[in-house]
Amino acid sequence: MPSITVAASDDEFSTIAADQVQRLLRTRMDSILALPTGNTPVPLYAELSRRCLNEEMSFAEVRTFNLDEFVAMPSEHPASFETYMMTHLFAHIDVDMANVHMPDGNSSNLEQECRAYERDIAALGGIDLAIVGIGGNGHLAFNEPGAAFDSRTRVVDLTAESLEAHASEFGGLAQVPRRAITMGIGTILEARRILLLARGREKAEIVARAVRGPITREVPASALQSHPNVLVLLDRASASQLHGMR
Ligand code: GLP
Repeated sequence: MPSITVAASDDEFSTIAADQVQRLLRTRMDSILALPTGNTPVPLYAELSRRCLNEEMSFAEVRTFNLDEFVAMPSEHPASFETYMMTHLFAHIDVDMANVHMPDGNSSNLEQECRAYERDIAALGGIDLAIVGIGGNGHLAFNEPGAAFDSRTRVVDLTAESLEAHASEFGGLAQVPRRAITMGIGTILEARRILLLARGREKAEIVARAVRGPITREVPASALQSHPNVLVLLDRASASQLHGMR
């Protein structure tokens, strides 16, 4: 059963999340992180950037793997996850860009790209800390409802709900790429520790189902219940439907 922490404020949320990363880097400076995109981790990335600027922590030896990326869109597109990561984190910390891994959605051989991504993670010894968000439909990275819990990095079709969730960034639903590369649920579950982040009332129901409901492929994030070392970090709004559940 995952541990659950409810932060009382936005500041506390980002402090607790950043402490998780800082504590890990204290034990091993060259830790391997899996990193999410989305609105939820923005304050965490701001806090990590601040700590790095103040020389409270360093990413100089850290290796990172992003969870997912859209297929067939220019990496410099403002809505690409690569642009997001540069804007919110990588431009502000001392990470060596040679140690940053992002799935290449423009590869001419996507299957090979997915296999290489898995190989690179394994070759470095596996993920120490996977930081993940949760989609409104329970998706984990871009593992949409129905995804197998032993799935690996692969190309997936996005559901209507996920396309809708990204429509505004792309200036309309029609412009959102239909496919993405995502780390698999199996890949994520092999991480030694997982930090699930959720904020906002619109996540309350799905958080309750993921954390306290039945473990089912219909709610990909419910797979985390079977992992021995998960911290679920919530704000009060996203935790509001946990009360009274099993
Ligand atoms: C995105 C990503 C997920 C992310 C989720 C939630 O599309 N593929 O990795 O966790 O949707 O995003 P947000 O934090 O904006 O709610």
